[in-house]
Amino acid sequence: MKSTSNKNVFVSKVGAILAAAGSAVGLGNVWRFPTEAGEHGGAAFILIYVLFMLLLGVPIMVTEFAIGRHGGSDVSGAFEKMSGGKKGWRWMGMIPVVSGFLVLSYYAVVAGWTLYYAFEALMNGFAGKTAMEFQTDFVAFSSDSLHPVFWTAIIIALTCGIVALGVQKGIERGSKIMMPLLFVFIVVLVGCSLSLPNAHQGLQFLFYPDFSKVNGSVILSAMGQAFFSLSVGLGCLCTYACYFRKDVDLMKDGLSVAGIDTLVALLSGLIVFPAVYSIPGLRPDAGPSLVFVTLPNVFQQVFGGIPVLAYSFSLIFYLLLVMAALTSSISMLEMSAAYFHKNLRLPRPLAAVVVSVVCMLFATFCSWSFGDWADVRIFGMGFFDLFDFLVAKLIMPVGGMLMCFFLGWVVDKRVLRAELTNGGTLRSPLYPVFRFIIRYFAPVCILLILVNELGLFAFLM
Ligand code: PHE
Repeated sequence: MKSTSNKNVFVSKVGAILAAAGSAVGLGNVWRFPTEAGEHGGAAFILIYVLFMLLLGVPIMVTEFAIGRHGGSDVSGAFEKMSGGKKGWRWMGMIPVVSGFLVLSYYAVVAGWTLYYAFEALMNGFAGKTAMEFQTDFVAFSSDSLHPVFWTAIIIALTCGIVALGVQKGIERGSKIMMPLLFVFIVVLVGCSLSLPNAHQGLQFLFYPDFSKVNGSVILSAMGQAFFSLSVGLGCLCTYACYFRKDVDLMKDGLSVAGIDTLVALLSGLIVFPAVYSIPGLRPDAGPSLVFVTLPNVFQQVFGGIPVLAYSFSLIFYLLLVMAALTSSISMLEMSAAYFHKNLRLPRPLAAVVVSVVCMLFATFCSWSFGDWADVRIFGMGFFDLFDFLVAKLIMPVGGMLMCFFLGWVVDKRVLRAELTNGGTLRSPLYPVFRFIIRYFAPVCILLILVNELGLFAFLM
C-alpha cells in the first residue's frame, strides 16, 4: 500500500474501491431493492435491473469516475476542465452540489428509522410483540412529528462528523472498517434466513421470472433502482473520483463496485424473501414497510421460541442497515460539502455543518410528510415521495444521460482514451464497447424510457 502525502486522495486503491462501494451499497440495496422487487413481481424485475446495471449503470459509473479524476480536486470545475475549457459546460458541475442536498434530505429519514430500530432491537423492544403491534407501532413512530426527526438528526450528525474528519481519516477509514463488517453481517443473516421453513418459496420469488408483470413502469423502476443503487447520475462518484489516485484502473474499479453492489442487493433479497415466506399469509409486496414491519415480526415469530436468536437476528439486521446507510450518506454529504470547502473556501468541518443544517431542515419536512404534513402535496406527492421521484426517476437518469453525452461527444477523444487507459499504460479491451454505449446506447435508451414514462409520446404525436 503506497501512502500519499496529499490529504485529498484516497491512500490506497482498495480504499478507493471500498469508498465507492460504500457509497453504492446502502439502503438502496437492503431496503429499496427488496421493496421494489417485491412490488414489481420479483425475478423479472430483477433480471431487467441487472441488465440496466451492466448496460447503463457501469458505463455511467465509469463516466463519472473519468470526469471526476480528470477534474482533480475540484468537482464543480471538472466539466469545464475536461471539455478543454468550454465555459458552456460549467453549469454541470452544479449537479452534484444540488443533488447532494436533495438526496441526503430524504435518505436520512429512512436512515433515522433504521437507527431507531437498531436501538429498539438493542433494548429488546421487539420481544413479545404481535404482527398488529409491529404495524401500528411503525405507523405511530414514522408519523410522529418529533421522534423520527430526532433519529434523523443523529444520523445527519454522525455523517457530518465523518465528513468533517476528511477524505482519508473520515471517508476512507470509515469505509474500510464498515464495509467488511457489513459483508460478514450479511453472510450470517443469509445463512439464518435460508434455514427458515418455506425458504424455497422466497428463492422462487427471487429467481423465477414471470414476464407478464413487466410494463413501462416496471422498466422505469428497474432503471431507477439500478441508478439509485449504484449512486450514479448525480455526480456523487465524480466527487469521490476526484480523490482517486492516477493509477486506479477506472474500468476495472467500476466493474468491481457494480459487482459488489449487485451481490449485496441479491444477498439482501436472500435475507428478506425467505424470511417473508416463512410465515404463511405475509406478502413480499408490503412496500416500504417491508423491513420495518414485516421483518421484525418474522424475526419474533420464527425465532420466538429461542429469544436469544430473535434478539441477535434483529440486532444484526438493523445494525447492518445503519452501517450501509452511513457509508452512503457520507458520500451524499461530501457532494455538497466538497463544493463549499473547495470553492467557497470554508474549512471542511464548517462546510459539512452548513450542508447538514440545510439537509436537516428538508429532512424534517420529508419526515413530516408521513404524519402532520401528509396532506401537503406538490405535483400530487408528499415531500418524501417528491424528493425520491426527483432524485431516482428524474435527476439520476437525466444526469446520467447528460454525463454520457458530455464524455462521448464533447470531450476530446484523446483525453477520454488517456483517462481510461491511464495515459496509455493500461490495456483496455472494453474501451470501444464503453465508447459506443456512452455515445449512442445510453443517451438514446434513457431518453426513450423517460419520454415514454413521462407520457410525452402522447403529447408529441
Ligand atoms: N447507492 C446508495 C444506496 O444504495 C444511495 C445513493 C444514491 C448514494 C445517490 C449516493 C448517491 O443506498
